Amino acid sequence: MKESFILAAVLAVALGSGAQADPTERIKIDAGRQFFDANCHRCHSVDADKASYGPLLEGVVGRRAGSFPGYPYSKALAAAGFVWTKGAIRAWIEANDQLVPGTKMRHVGITDPTVQDFIVEYLASLKP
Ligand code: HEC
Repeated sequence: MKESFILAAVLAVALGSGAQADPTERIKIDAGRQFFDANCHRCHSVDADKASYGPLLEGVVGRRAGSFPGYPYSKALAAAGFVWTKGAIRAWIEANDQLVPGTKMRHVGITDPTVQDFIVEYLASLKP
């Protein structure tokens, strides 16, 4: 219930903020930013100039897991060896401790596929 209310509010804001070439894409990204701010931003920076407790997520789509230079990853994530596709990020935010047992990221449990989609599209829009 709460999530659908937030979703409606987010869409209202996104629709009012002047959609550009692909409005649907723009709305997803704007919605994703709001969900990211609510669920991820306290631990993750999306700005290379700002360090955070978790690894930088700007440019994460297409990056090898556990590979951001200088970040002290858990042994589990550093050894995971896969690349962050959109699908891998969905699985991670749904159940990160199942995707990579031994990770030091606390379980976040984003199970709503729409919310997963928004967050992933937002992350994919962040190019270093
Ligand atoms: C309580 C703090 C915290 C929260 C909240 C959090 N994370 Fe993380 N995240 C971490 C930490 C710490 C790691 C490093 C994990 C490791 O080394 O095992 C990490 C790792 C990651 C990675 C892997 C990055 C890489 O370089 O391999 C991704 C992707 C990620 N988080 C996405 C998210 C998203 C999206 C959210 C919100 C839905 C989120 N995280 C919420 C702390 C957090």
